[in-house]
Order: sequence, then C-alpha cells, then structure tokens
Amino acid sequence: MKILWRITKIAALERSRMAGAWASLIVATILFLSIPRLIGFSIDYAISGGADEQQSTRVLVYLGAIVIGVVALRGIFNYANLYLAESVSQHVSYTIRNMLYDKLQHLSFAFHDREHTGNLMSKSTIDVEMMRMFVSMGLVRSGQITMLVIGSAVMMFLTDVELALISLSFVPVIAARAIYASTRMRKMWLQAQVEMGKLTTVLQENLAGQRVVKAFGAEEHEENKFDYQNEAVYETTYIARRAQSSNSALMQIIFWASSGVILWFGGRAVIDERITIGALAEFILYTSLLVQPMRMVGFLVNTFARAASAGQRLFEVLDAPSPVREKDDPHTLSNVHGSVSFDNVTFSYGNADAIKNVSLDVSPGQVIALMGAPGSGKTTLMSLLSRFYDVNDGAICVDGIDVREISLSSLRSNIGVVQQDVFLFSATVAENISYGHENATMDEIIQAAKTAQIHDEIVALPDGYETVIGERGVSLSGGQRQRLSIARTLAINPAILILDDSTSSVDAGTESRIQKALSEVIKGRTTFIIAHRLSSIQNAELVVVMEEGKIAEMGTPDELIVAGGLFTKVTELQYATNLNGISTTPSSVGSRGTSS
Ligand SMILES: Nc1ncnc2c1ncn2[C@@H]1O[C@H](COP(=O)(O)OP(=O)(O)OP(=O)(O)O)[C@@H](O)[C@H]1O
Ligand SMILES: [Mg+2]
Repeated sequence: MKILWRITKIAALERSRMAGAWASLIVATILFLSIPRLIGFSIDYAISGGADEQQSTRVLVYLGAIVIGVVALRGIFNYANLYLAESVSQHVSYTIRNMLYDKLQHLSFAFHDREHTGNLMSKSTIDVEMMRMFVSMGLVRSGQITMLVIGSAVMMFLTDVELALISLSFVPVIAARAIYASTRMRKMWLQAQVEMGKLTTVLQENLAGQRVVKAFGAEEHEENKFDYQNEAVYETTYIARRAQSSNSALMQIIFWASSGVILWFGGRAVIDERITIGALAEFILYTSLLVQPMRMVGFLVNTFARAASAGQRLFEVLDAPSPVREKDDPHTLSNVHGSVSFDNVTFSYGNADAIKNVSLDVSPGQVIALMGAPGSGKTTLMSLLSRFYDVNDGAICVDGIDVREISLSSLRSNIGVVQQDVFLFSATVAENISYGHENATMDEIIQAAKTAQIHDEIVALPDGYETVIGERGVSLSGGQRQRLSIARTLAINPAILILDDSTSSVDAGTESRIQKALSEVIKGRTTFIIAHRLSSIQNAELVVVMEEGKIAEMGTPDELIVAGGLFTKVTELQYATNLNGISTTPSSVGSRGTSS
C-alpha cells in the first residue's frame, strides 16, 4: 500500500491534468448512468401512451434524440478523460525513468558490484511500464468503476429496494474474490518479474561477451543457460496468467448468474405490478452497465498487484543508500598541488580485508610505481583514492584534505584514472576523448591523442576524429583502445594521474613511445603507475610493492634491489626472460631509478 501511495504522489505532481482527468471522468460517468433511466422512462411512456398519438410520437422522438445527445456528450468527456489520464501516466513513467537514471549515476561502485546490469535494465523498462499502467488504469479507471457501482446502486435503490439488494448482492462477492486474488497475484507477478530480470541479465551478458562465447566454443552452454532461464520466465508467467484467467472467468460466471436471478425476481415484481416494465429494463441495463467494469476489476487488481511489485523493485534502487556520500557542505578543490597521503587505511569489499593498514605519503609531482601479484590490492587502493569506495578505517587525504570532505565532482575531476578495463562509448573518437571535458577544443583533443601516441592511427581512420567507434562503428584493437582511454584521461588535465596497467596491451615499441610521452605528461603531476612490467616503471621515483593488501616493500628501485626482497625477485625473473629473448624491452630498472 505504501508503494502505491508513493506512485500516487508522483502522479499528483501533474495536479491540473489529473484534476482534468477526474472532472471529465465524473461528467462522463454521470451521463453514462443517466442512459438506463432515460430508456426505462421511454419504454414506460411508450407502453402507457400519451394524450394523443401524434404528441406521444413526438415525445418519443425527442427522448431518442436526447439519448443520442447524451451518448455523444459522454463520448467527448470519455475522450478527454482517456487523453488526460494517458498524458499523466506518460509523465509519471518519464519522471520515474529519469529519477532511476539519475540515481544510478550517483550510486557508488558497491551498488553496481551487487546489481546485475540486465536486472537494472528490466527495472528501468518493464517495471516502469507497470507503474504507468497503474496510473492510467489504477488511479483513474478504478474511480470510474467505483462511481459506476455506487451510481447504479443509488439509481436501483431509488426504484425498488428489494430488487436492488438482489441485483447488487454479487458486488461484495466479486470484491472479496478480487482482494483474495490480488494478494496471490502480487507474489506471482513479483516472481515472474524477478525471473524476467534474470533472463535479461543472461541475454545482456551473452551479447556483451559474444567474443568469449565464440572463443571458448561455449554456444551450447549459453543456449542451455538461456533455455533454463527462459523456461523459468515461461513457467512463472504462465502460472500467473492462468490464475488471472481463472479468476476473471469465475467473476463472469458470478455476474451472469446474477442476471438470471434479476430476471426471475424482477419478472415477478412486474407481474405483481410493484414495478413497471421500464423499471425492470432499467435494472437489467444498470446491471449490464456493470459488466465491463466488473470484468475490469480482475485486470485492475492485476495492475495494482503488478505495480506494487514493480514499485517494490524500483524503490529498492531509488532508496538504495549510497555508501559513498557527499558531505552537505563539501570542500571544492582548486589549484591542486597533488600531495596524497594514505594514513593507516583498511578496506574490505565484504569479508576479507582487501587493503590492510596501508600508510603512504606522496609529495606533489612524485611518480609512484605500484607493483604486486594479481589480487594484491593495487586497483583497490587507487579506487579508494578516487573515492569509488570509502575506507573502513584510516583516512586518505589530497593536499591534506580528507577525500570524504571533498565534493565528488571536484575530487574526480582532479584525479584522472586510466582504468584497467577500458570502456569506450559508441560515439566518435573525438567525443570519447573529450568525455570528461566536454568543452575541450579540437586542439586539446588532438594534443591529448598525440601524447597518448594514438593521433596517427586516428587520422588514418575513415573519418579521422569523427569516426564512430564501438558497436556498429569501427572496431579498435586492444592497444588502440587503451591509448584512447589514456588520451581521454589526459584531456581532463588532472593534477593526479592513475595509470592502471595502462600499457599492458601495447607492444614494446609503442610502450616506449608512450613512456617517453608520459615522461612529458607526468611532469608536475602526481602519478601512480600500476604495472607488472619493469619497463613500465622507468619514470618511477618510488616503488611500492603490495602483497595481500599490505605494503610489502617500498623505496627507490635501487634501495629495493639492495634489500633483496620481492622486487628483486621480479627484477631477476624479468631480466632472465629478456636474456632469453622473450621480451624485447630491457628492464634495467636500477639505473633508471638512479637517473630519475
Ligand atoms: N568489486 C569487488 N568486489 C569484491 N571483491 C573485489 C572487488 N574487486 C576486487 N576484489 C578483490 O579484492 C582483492 C584485490 O583486488 P584488486 O583488483 O585490487 O587487485 P590488483 O592488485 O589490482 O590485481 P591485478 O593486478 O590483477 O589487477 C582481490 O582479492 C579481489 O578478488
Ligand atoms: Mg588491478
């Protein structure tokens, strides 16, 4: 109930149109209710006959004309009502879609780690549609049904109390049945919607991961997975639909059985001259007036039930607290120097700590290489600096200010991240590069591309910087994508730069070109380079080696070699590999360390 009330409050934002819909609904229903009375009156008039034949014919013609007029007027108001109700409901779905999208933009990584993309997609399409149906059908149409039932009841009681009681005796039966069905149906539809969400996830992952599927020849596995989920959707929807059908069939049986009963008792009342034939006709017409609305009760109950379950799913997202929240009066960074300090930072994604008691002081403009085995926490540590997650313990400061005190937009526009998994949008190359800096001039875009060593390749594309990439566009190689994402980050000109494994998929030649260019770029910027290859860290002044979420070693490359720990082992291993000619890049880290 609370859920439906919340949707109603959103619809109430469209006050004037909602009021218009209701006003036209009331007028249309009153006109509708007057038709049986007019017809009943005409029948009685025709049977009893007037003073003279000519006059009564004229009156009957007038009565016929009035009925036609009333029907036409009712049609006009009905149109106004449908139009206004529809426009309110469209506006509600528009508003909810926007609210959902805005919310999704501001939920932190932790939320997206949990929620499946496909599920979110089904929420923002199917569930929003359910809400729209609720507004147009539930909020307006249910009013019409109530008015028709009450109006018919009043008209019937005014004519004959006993027959009215008999005629209306089926209404509470249907209402009780509807309420019972509603509770059952709600659970069924919720289940069906959950299964549909899962199906969308399977589909979305399959489409996004087509290359992996093909590469592993996993088509059959994927087909089975889809089949299984598709079956679940079929089953749950089928069960819900079956329950819905048997419910509305039962309602019709109850209804038509009551018509027989009215004829039986009404006929006797006419014979006893308690009511006129016109009045009996009225009763039958009023009951038939209720056929359509009563049949709709089942549908309406469903609309309510489905809107309630869809609402529950949507409000789960809309109400989801974002663990990373901005302070009420956040600090805005300006003229960032770029000092960064991690003070005894501990963080976990859930169970085990991914980062344990990490302390690290970085002075402005310093270049830090982060090394360590896969899963040692390098990416996580950097995610904490950008505040994609909040630390569980300790603090991270930029220029001496705790990142939790800084507005998210100003923090992130000063920290440029080249992420490990490159994601590019289906847009032009230029648009992708200027993604974080919408007002970038073409010169700035080209400069960023040149620094990232991708300019020449962009120019060689069919439409140069205007080439559309991604789906239904030109495909780029892994290395090109990586350099494009470097250009995108450079375009925002951040004071702090994080390069997460950014040169892993480029060849040695390109890498050394990027390194050379980077040595220009990183001047005056605090730079974190996460790398596995020693060749990638030639600019580093400080090497931090991580192991299981902790800092295992830290120092200049020379110091670390002398210490003879993990770093030395990696160095020796890669050096040996080079000697065997597998890698073409020499890894004389030590000498580079001294030169920097
Ligand atoms: N979104 C997440 N949810 C839960 N656990 C995560 C998440 N991301 C990473 N982890 C876990 O946290 C630990 C550190 O992962 P992280 O990605 O920081 O490692 P990494 O050092 O960057 O590794 P790699 O060199 O492979 O990129 C790992 O045990 C990983 O399984
Ligand atoms: Mg990583």
